[in-house]
Amino acid sequence: MVLLEAIERRLLEELNPKVKLVLETGRYLIDGGGKRLRPLITMLSCGMCGGEPEDALPLGVGLEYIHAASLLHDDVVDGAKKRRGRESANLIFGNEVAVLTGDYMYAKALHLFATHGTIDMIRIVSRAVMDMAEAQVLELSRVGELITEEEYFQIIDGKTAVLFGACVSVGGLAGGCDEEGRLYEVGLRMGRAFQLIDDLLDYAGNSEKTGKPVGNDLREGKTTYPLLSVLDSLDRVRVESLLKEINPSAEEIESLRREVLSLGGDVKTKERAVEELSRAKELLSVFPENQYKEEILKLMDFVAFREL
Ligand code: FPP
Ligand code: MG
Repeated sequence: MVLLEAIERRLLEELNPKVKLVLETGRYLIDGGGKRLRPLITMLSCGMCGGEPEDALPLGVGLEYIHAASLLHDDVVDGAKKRRGRESANLIFGNEVAVLTGDYMYAKALHLFATHGTIDMIRIVSRAVMDMAEAQVLELSRVGELITEEEYFQIIDGKTAVLFGACVSVGGLAGGCDEEGRLYEVGLRMGRAFQLIDDLLDYAGNSEKTGKPVGNDLREGKTTYPLLSVLDSLDRVRVESLLKEINPSAEEIESLRREVLSLGGDVKTKERAVEELSRAKELLSVFPENQYKEEILKLMDFVAFREL
């Protein structure tokens, strides 16, 4: 796809730091792959709204840098050893360099927005990053506890969905549309569906394809939608004590994971993701039919049906 090639090239070109170690660390993350969903959505949204997708390329690149910065920081916070199937940047370059390269990439993103965007876009993007940081703190503070559905959505909105909201609205504004709120909600709902499926993959994914073992969230004491969706049929006290355990046994984790699946937690999570996407599609209906809108709709289905 032509857009993807342009994105890859620009991602490497714009990084451009003076210090070699920052370049190495930034490149390590960018080279690690990823689906480039954020810049793609930004450019497609611009095209859907009547602009040239290329006009939104530096903005999409900025949004991918924000995503990359958040992963660099997140892996330090989580003490992660792996990212995208290989050693995480913090493991290779150390926590200090990983955090500071994240800072560089976040600032570079804002610099791209100040150069190629508008003040409204900077408002949208900086708000999204504030929400992301807050959601991470909220998630961290609730590890080991059974959270409510409301808290769950607060966390996934912040950690994933708001950035998708920023992508669709920034792209749309670049394409000349003024329906910021509607565009933002389209992205927010797409992002929610994306994270719901991510959380489902943690219960029911093929670990060879996802590159992650199943049952991670339970092991780390994190409540996610598959568990919440069947909680009424489970013994609450047992679930709460398992989430609290610092070193839960593999058997306990596996038995709860299987029980969640046998109670239909996977189907319910998928249904909820599809519901979010239907709402996003409904919101898109006022926009003119064109190839870019078609591509956005295809991406939505990719989000819902990936690697199950
Ligand atoms: C991954 O969650 C976490 C995120 C995608 C968001 C992280 C956000 C921040 C650290 C704050 C924003 C900071 C900047 C500089 C933009 P996860 O740990 O559940 O997923 P994982 O399995 O991919 O690690
Ligand atoms: Mg993490």
